[in-house]
Amino acid sequence: MKKTLLLISMALGLSAIFSSALAEHVTSLRGSNDLETGSNNVIIKQVQRDQEPIERDYVQQPPLVPHKIEGYSINLKYNKCLSCHSWKNYKKARATKISQTHFADRDENVLANVSSRRYFCTQCHVPQMNATPLIENEFRPVQAIR
Ligand code: HEC
Ligand code: HEC
Repeated sequence: MKKTLLLISMALGLSAIFSSALAEHVTSLRGSNDLETGSNNVIIKQVQRDQEPIERDYVQQPPLVPHKIEGYSINLKYNKCLSCHSWKNYKKARATKISQTHFADRDENVLANVSSRRYFCTQCHVPQMNATPLIENEFRPVQAIR
């Protein structure tokens, strides 16, 4: 048993050495700097408190969040986003109500409550920011359904 464990850990160690040797030739968006030195061109953008919503690029796009969401927790017991965006609360909060698609499960059954597929809002909705894209994108939406 001890011998097998030793062999396994040796194999893991060796593969770590080999993969780090390979990784030297791969360049990511942050450049070829290693993790310890960090990237020297990181500019952390400040999310603005409230903004005019940036228009969607195509109809199926999850709209960007035009407000700050720092500290808004989403967990099993509580979802801060729904305290303003649910059908029960949206009027009082003057927020957009979540659309009907958010109630459908994967078999397209419409549920009485937000589907678990749509519960973790920040999986799809991110705060908007006026930033230069990291990678150029020539996507154009279909004109007829703009
Ligand atoms: C305190 C109330 C409040 C909370 C909490 C809140 N929002 Fe909002 N949200 C608003 C209001 C009000 C607007 C409308 C702003 C506007 O149209 O200018 C809005 C707009 C949005 C929009 C844009 C909708 C559209 O059609 O353009 C999205 C997406 C959104 N919120 C997502 C979220 C997410 C995700 C969370 C949780 C992380 C969240 N919101 C938490 C009040 C809230
Ligand atoms: C799996 C991805 C996904 C998740 C998770 C999700 N949404 Fe969305 N959301 C979308 C998409 C896509 C749209 C645009 C098309 C539509 O309405 O379905 C949208 C639209 C919206 C809109 C605009 C509705 C309108 O009528 O214009 C609001 C507000 C919103 N979502 C809030 C939320 C909140 C709050 C949560 C969490 C409870 C959430 N969403 C979770 C994908 C998602």
